[in-house]
Amino acid sequence: MRRILALLTALALLLACAVSLADEGKTVYVSDFSAGADGWYGRGASVAPAGGVLKTTGRQDSWNSPGRDFALVPGGYYELGVEVLQEQLDSASFMVSVAHTVNGATSYENLARGTVKKGEWTALKGTYTAGDYDTFTLYVETVGAGTLSFSIRGFTVTAPNGEPAPRPTEPPMVISAVDSMPALKDVYAGKFDFGSCVNMMQAVNPVLMDFVGSQFNIVTPENELKPDAVFDLAASRALVTEDETAVAVHFDRAKPLLDWAQANGVKVHGHTLVWHSQTSPEFFREGYRGSGKYVTREVMLGRLENYIKGIMAYLDENYPGVVVSWDVVNEAVDDGPGNLRGSPWLTVVGDDYLHRAFELARKYAPEGTKLYYNDYNTASPNKLNGIYRLLSSLLQEGNIDGYGFQMHHAVGQPTVQQITAAVEKIASLGVSLRVSELDVTCGKPTEAAFTAQAAFYADVMKLILRYADQFEAVQVWGITDDASWRSYAYPLLFDKNRNPKPAFWAVADPDSIK
Ligand code: XIL
Repeated sequence: MRRILALLTALALLLACAVSLADEGKTVYVSDFSAGADGWYGRGASVAPAGGVLKTTGRQDSWNSPGRDFALVPGGYYELGVEVLQEQLDSASFMVSVAHTVNGATSYENLARGTVKKGEWTALKGTYTAGDYDTFTLYVETVGAGTLSFSIRGFTVTAPNGEPAPRPTEPPMVISAVDSMPALKDVYAGKFDFGSCVNMMQAVNPVLMDFVGSQFNIVTPENELKPDAVFDLAASRALVTEDETAVAVHFDRAKPLLDWAQANGVKVHGHTLVWHSQTSPEFFREGYRGSGKYVTREVMLGRLENYIKGIMAYLDENYPGVVVSWDVVNEAVDDGPGNLRGSPWLTVVGDDYLHRAFELARKYAPEGTKLYYNDYNTASPNKLNGIYRLLSSLLQEGNIDGYGFQMHHAVGQPTVQQITAAVEKIASLGVSLRVSELDVTCGKPTEAAFTAQAAFYADVMKLILRYADQFEAVQVWGITDDASWRSYAYPLLFDKNRNPKPAFWAVADPDSIK
């Protein structure tokens, strides 16, 4: 029945649509904004059509967006396109997403992603096979670019071959070695966990997640537990009139991965409670207003306490035992002399902000949760000394369990000797260790580059194996090369078709490479 209703609504919508074109059997919805907003409305923001463009202003959170309801047909395959313009930041990431409901419950998927440089109209394109939902709202949002205003034009939804349309057959995936491929989680079982980061777009892809589950026993949400995803600015503003320290948190973005992890018995590493980056600037200001003054140290510590308490309470209630460890603070040491990096945390709270964050994390995290400090470039000597000093001082208060080496490397940079020196020095503190974000760029995707990359991965794994009793986990920062944050240089273990690269075999058996 729902399908028939949806089909009828789809036909009605087609007639009512601002411009409807029948192009070689394709049904095309085009919102060109020439005659007004064409049904687009603001989701927590204001939208205004003018001259063929829809401008969105007054955003308070990254999900605030221009949106429009579409009567998509469950099972139908759609191609989506839109052009986006922003004039405020040097560059900003955008997504086309869908909010869908079934029996009144809303969930979300990200369908297309792109980076928009200042002043340049940029096309985002994606596809979507409509799931079995009652309603569909398509919208264009930023990825962590806060309150940025932006414009869209030429939003199109194409259903190739009419509607509902079956998904075109995808080229067969060439998986050469899947049957004989070992699982990294099994290879290292009894030594340490082996995992990856996973983002929200991947978490809602069941085929990909089956693959993730077959290889990994721990996952880190790539962006979805960062402060800009969890801190609910609009709801916090509503609370703050009563109490400047009140903080509202939400988990819309993290839920798909948390649900999957819970259902499949996979551990989650939380990333990250306190960071200078991907955090709304309003978090530190009076009334959570961009124009407000910085709050006092006392208020900020109150906010930090409520933020951590809110997160731990929600996760413990809804996902008990799923999040086993946290990066309590990320990247607090600078790349120069190894002092604390300048950040609103340092300015507003002062030198002891990491100590207070660990104290609060310990107070509210369920017993047994491992608390980490996480950083990059540990192999650079000055930074290593700075990190060592910081860890030593945190250890005196007893609220930290370990150190996370990000290890975003390139082949040979830093050298394995430098990485070894860093691991040795931090390990001497007797703390737990993890490789939290391993990837190794290799330049172009040639056989020679992949071979060198594999050798480097093998060296890193041999080193980690020498300290296996201290390492709790090794996690790569991404599943396939094409989905990496450094996809331009092919840094991961699997290619875009999920075929294992030489690097995979090197990690699975480091001794196979001499
Ligand atoms: C990166 C993500 O991979 C990207 O998707 C995002 O746009 C920026 O952040 N160090 C960290 C991670 O601690 O959070 C970063 O992740 C990579 C560097």
